[in-house]
Amino acid sequence: MIIAVDGPAAAGKGTLARRLAEHYGLAYVDTGLLYRAVGLSVLRAGGDPSDAAAASSAARALDLDQLEDPALRGDEAAQAASQVAASPEVRAALLDVQRRLAANPPPGTSGVVLDGRDIGTVVCPDSDVKIFVTASLEARAERRLKELRQRGLESIRSRVLQDMKERDARDRERAVAPLVPASDAFMLDTTGLDAEAAFQAAVDHIASRTD
Ligand code: DC
Repeated sequence: MIIAVDGPAAAGKGTLARRLAEHYGLAYVDTGLLYRAVGLSVLRAGGDPSDAAAASSAARALDLDQLEDPALRGDEAAQAASQVAASPEVRAALLDVQRRLAANPPPGTSGVVLDGRDIGTVVCPDSDVKIFVTASLEARAERRLKELRQRGLESIRSRVLQDMKERDARDRERAVAPLVPASDAFMLDTTGLDAEAAFQAAVDHIASRTD
């Protein structure tokens, strides 16, 4: 079983995808981490994440052990990720990695939930279930701010909102695999929903498809 969970930053995809994985006995794959690892590796080598040649060589050299790095959760890695993600060579290199992860669920699991931007449209267009999670820009910025402050990072609301807008624009406007819902995706707007309500809505949708 493959469940695709796509949507913009801080819409609640990660929380939802993790809960669905646990509920259905599936593995969870956070595909954003792959782009973050490539972005961070370019930065650490002193390069520019918008330099397509540097980004594609970092993508080809990616080792899955890099995904354990806690620095991947930071905003620097997030911004670098959305820059390297515009490169078609990076996307092609990571496409293979993602499809391999989707096709080989670890022992004890019966499939995979992939969380990303283009899972339902490009990576696994034959997914059994596709969910596109959205929320208003303000709600997403507010959640991101709360998360940063919980991690002890002093952050300014207007700056978080601006970063979110820039990342949304890059993700939506890139030429290859832009952030768009698949035509057969279930649209889940979490603006007024907490994590539990979003999870219930997704489970109800999945039940209605398998009934
Ligand atoms: O989900 P995230 O915030 O960790 O993703 C970081 C960036 O990676 C995001 O801005 C765009 C890119 N990304 C992508 O292009 N395709 C994916 N499947 C996942 C992430």
